[in-house]
Amino acid sequence: MNNYLINNKNKYDSAYNESLNNPEKFWNDIASENFSWYDKWSSVVKWDFHKAKINWFSNAKLNITVNCIDRHVKTNPHKIAILFEPNNVNEKPKSFTYSELLVEVSKMANVLKSLGVKKGDRVCIYLPMIPELAFSVLACARIGVIHSVVFAGFSSDALATRINDCNSSLTITSDGSFRGAKTLNLKNIVDDALLKCNDEQKVLVVKRTLEPIKMISKRDVFLEDIISGVDVYCKPEIMDAEDPLFILYTSGSTGKPKGMVHTTAGYMVYTSYTFKNIFQYTDNDVYWCTADIGWITGHSYILYGPLSNGATTLMFEGVPSYPDFSRFWSIVEKYKVTQFYTAPTAIRALARQGVKFVQGIDLSSLKVLGTVGEPINEEAWNWYNINIGKNNCPIVDTWWQTETGGILISSIPNVIPDKPTFATKPFLGVQPMLVDDNGNELKDNNIVGKLCINFPWPSIARTIWGNHERYINTYFSTFKGKYFTGDGAYRDEYGNYRITGRVDDVVIVSGHNLGTAPIEDAINEHPNIAESAIVGFPHEIKGNALYGFITLKDSSIDSNYIKSDINKIISNKIGPIAKLDKIQITTGLPKTRSGKIMRRILRKIASGDFNNLGDISTLLNPEVVNKIINNSL
Ligand code: WT7
Repeated sequence: MNNYLINNKNKYDSAYNESLNNPEKFWNDIASENFSWYDKWSSVVKWDFHKAKINWFSNAKLNITVNCIDRHVKTNPHKIAILFEPNNVNEKPKSFTYSELLVEVSKMANVLKSLGVKKGDRVCIYLPMIPELAFSVLACARIGVIHSVVFAGFSSDALATRINDCNSSLTITSDGSFRGAKTLNLKNIVDDALLKCNDEQKVLVVKRTLEPIKMISKRDVFLEDIISGVDVYCKPEIMDAEDPLFILYTSGSTGKPKGMVHTTAGYMVYTSYTFKNIFQYTDNDVYWCTADIGWITGHSYILYGPLSNGATTLMFEGVPSYPDFSRFWSIVEKYKVTQFYTAPTAIRALARQGVKFVQGIDLSSLKVLGTVGEPINEEAWNWYNINIGKNNCPIVDTWWQTETGGILISSIPNVIPDKPTFATKPFLGVQPMLVDDNGNELKDNNIVGKLCINFPWPSIARTIWGNHERYINTYFSTFKGKYFTGDGAYRDEYGNYRITGRVDDVVIVSGHNLGTAPIEDAINEHPNIAESAIVGFPHEIKGNALYGFITLKDSSIDSNYIKSDINKIISNKIGPIAKLDKIQITTGLPKTRSGKIMRRILRKIASGDFNNLGDISTLLNPEVVNKIINNSL
């Protein structure tokens, strides 16, 4: 049976069984029937979770860009591969067909070669969401250079740490970036970062904002000055299945960021296969993921997943609020977007603006909606479903991680039904498992536990760059022989998974194990509350007590009334034991660039430990930290 397209429940059931009972055959068939290889593998999967050694498609030879570009140039050269919507509404959008993409990627690859980088070298990419970002990523893959994309909102310190950790020799950046009404001078940030790096560095500069910048001779070069001289075709490098494709940094709970290493063949097969099925992509669809390519979501589901399927993928340079809060929906209307994939934090921010920004916009092209990055609360889910999906689009709540490379748990449109706040079922080949604190498997349904994965999937990260010990310790040591996700999950009576949040967000109050996420969910249902973050702090009698940081939808509301309401709701929904001892109404919560609340900082503030906040350089809004400290209880 051809399992590539899973389009009904029976097929899912039989394919899922096969993927568990005979993973070698299952993945062998998916990989051999749907991709282009120079050489096939000698074995499908070899693994040892104790040593964190994982190999997929050993000894196979391929180039991922041939799969993402060249083979579509043969069959469908004039199909649009990338649509580019600029930040500025007055600027002309751009589009690139598959044959144009091959030229752009080839030229960029030849530029990189002319700058002296070669197979196995690391190149750091620090660019806004412009087409050159996509070309750079793919150009690296074309010639076997390992890309390390750093989100162009990170500070110079964060950039320097990442350049030094993987010892990259070239940084691709731009003069600046447009974000809403603002411009940001990226080149200055790179200049600052490179003061903290070795002298071997080169910088390739794309012109975007045309602001004046300083160029350092011998080190810095403008792309436009060298690209006109290069060949329009670049031969793909022949890569081994397990050659590193990229490094992507993700923050750890402590210490420096972890450079997650993804390799070539398994990553390609898995991101491609998940994209096809979870978004049910068909030929004339226009797919849009609003993430930045600086995150794993952008790597896997703006570039590699869609392009390996020959899809049309949209890149948006700007922000959802510019020129106003209807921007996302106007773009959906303009390009007749069929699949729309975004984050709960964006949904909540847009919902907060009210439906007036959605009204009058034609969203009838939409077929599938997606969400990723954090648990989505029921209120946001419903808003998305009603106002964007018009009750007519399945919502895929996709659970995965930088480390997993691709989506592991999700519903599948018209195959696995969605369920508000549930990621639902494991994807093909994925074996999730709930365990208790001692690592014993919890086999029953209707149970909460720590989420582990019991078998490798093709796109699992292979190591942490330069530190395999840390890789073993972080993911394979808590529960021996299993990959530990760091997340808690609930499995309902039908086997649907609901991610309850990081397990490090659990607080023991008077001996009761309380997840802060469910309490937040409960109070977020309050009509006047925009967002909340609950953390534990030391308490003389209870051991720990709960501290709530709350933002309101309308700051003119009497906060005493809100405070008493909050504990009433908690008492009702969870029990008096979960009541908050301290409630601080604040104008904002510290967030990472991907929209996650940094509870680590709030925990320090709640316990009065203001001098040990740790690194706050990666925050989106570091300025709220002092405000919260000044008003803390
Ligand atoms: C953590 C991974 C995966 C790309 C973006 C984030 C949380 C992710 C969901 C979801 C509930 C989710 C988990 C996970 N998370 N997706 N659909 N429902 N939680 O990648 O920065 O590596 O973060 O994000 O806690 O462990 P990341």
